[in-house]
Amino acid sequence: MSDAKLHEEVEKRRTFAIISHPDAGKTTITEKVLLHGHQIQKAGTVKGKKSGQHAKSDWMEMEQERGISVTTSVMQFPYNEALVNLLDTPGHADFSEDTYRTLTAVDSCLMVIDGAKGVEDRTIKLMEVTRLRDTPILTFMNKLDRDIRDPLELLDEVEDVLKIMCAPITWPIGSGKNFKGVYHLLRDEVILYKTGQGHRIQEEDIIKGLDNPELDERLGVWAEELREQIELVEGASNPFDLEMFLAGELTPVFFGTALGNFGVDHMLDGLVDWAPKPQSRETDEGSFVEADNKNFSGFIFKIQANMDPKHRDRVAFLRIVSGKYEKGMKMRQVRTGKDVRISDALTFLAGDRSHVEEAYPGDIIGLHNHGTIQIGDTFTAGEEFKFSGIPNFAPELFRRIRLKDPLKQKQLLKGLVQLSEEGAVQVFRPLISNDLIVGAVGVLQFDVVVHRLKTEYKVEAIYENINVATARWVMSKDEKKLDEFRRKAESNLALDGGDNLTYIAPTMVNLSLAEERYPDITFTHTREH
Ligand code: G4P
Repeated sequence: MSDAKLHEEVEKRRTFAIISHPDAGKTTITEKVLLHGHQIQKAGTVKGKKSGQHAKSDWMEMEQERGISVTTSVMQFPYNEALVNLLDTPGHADFSEDTYRTLTAVDSCLMVIDGAKGVEDRTIKLMEVTRLRDTPILTFMNKLDRDIRDPLELLDEVEDVLKIMCAPITWPIGSGKNFKGVYHLLRDEVILYKTGQGHRIQEEDIIKGLDNPELDERLGVWAEELREQIELVEGASNPFDLEMFLAGELTPVFFGTALGNFGVDHMLDGLVDWAPKPQSRETDEGSFVEADNKNFSGFIFKIQANMDPKHRDRVAFLRIVSGKYEKGMKMRQVRTGKDVRISDALTFLAGDRSHVEEAYPGDIIGLHNHGTIQIGDTFTAGEEFKFSGIPNFAPELFRRIRLKDPLKQKQLLKGLVQLSEEGAVQVFRPLISNDLIVGAVGVLQFDVVVHRLKTEYKVEAIYENINVATARWVMSKDEKKLDEFRRKAESNLALDGGDNLTYIAPTMVNLSLAEERYPDITFTHTREH
């Protein structure tokens, strides 16, 4: 392959994910994005959520859901001159550490906000994760077909709460029953909204120029109001600045309605024009691997088990960082030092699992995994470096796990450690007791673990409540201080699945007190694999 061909493939790729609070419209916007990417002919064909998979804990049902949802876990489609990869970020009940880690595998994010609600909790958390890599963020203010909050107030809230500057690219004209469309500040065009067009790509109804008298003819009193508002907005808000966007300091903001399929294309235009192509990635040696480096490399950010009832295997999701994947090529799994020939990598195109012939930086391929691949694993063309920046995240939910049959303690521990290596869950063993504590980011993980322990490790386990609010990995440059801390705080310390020392806090207040009391100890929220 020529370098020019690789370069060309890299230049056109945009790999992104959507961050939002449940119900803000992620599913709906994904559907409209696929409509614009010509992956579906008519909106309404992507599985809706009506069947009520939220909070379902029945594994079989869950598995069936997954069988469907895996087809949408990575979506690739062309848009304008670009090739876009959209990575699904599990939400609602299946929200998990995978959601966080997916954000470490993309080059940009779209933040979707419900215009009536503004910034909500989950969005705040997900934004924190994007900050680890200063990922560029685009924003879509959704549900303009409903009465939303004052748009300027919404931007202020984003700036205050999320600490990112807003640059409106489009500006809404009314909302709810009075939603007329948007003014595109960069194109100097008013794009008019028509109801009942949500299921298809619309021909844009455009009025060129804010001073165009046609605007008054068609919008009546709204025209003058829009002119006044735009004057205010242009004075009060930040202009778009590409460099600041790429540094994660400023977000271009689009207004629209995903349900009405209005404004999604403006956002997509922004994404392909401004969002970064596949980025270089840092290694544990501190050097960076560029996307158009000819040698293949990539890392595993997610492992999904038993996704499809028809395929009982696990799939490891690999993000390609550099070079080209070709069917049948050999790659080195750096952690084990083994060279493996991969001839059946999966892609998730067109709503089905199919085999890929070739893939490029920014793309995601699925590797069949029979338990040998772990989250964070690096694959290379034979080189020995490992990628950094694929962390574990401190769990937010905790339970004590106990066996029904006490004689199987060893299998239980083995199962839990393996599942934690795979990234399904985290396990903590307190220094002073024989308890086993399971920690997860999302509640569904607990059910997954019990099910997998039973089917794969033949142990039956149950959960008990435990008084733990949060966990932090602890370390110190000063060995002596760490020893002292280990003695004094023993009752709060545990080892995780990889034998790393962890502080288990019964309350957030307890954690802050400990942080104050032991200034030489670093308490971290993420841990590198
Ligand atoms: P999520 O994936 O972020 O959780 O959100 P999802 O797209 O499922 O949207 C949540 C609800 O908000 C859905 O309604 C959806 O139809 C609605 N919605 C999304 N975008 C818009 C919009 O632009 N305008 C309006 N008015 N509603 C929007 P639901 O009744 O909860 O679900 P469903 O029964 O329609 O599937």
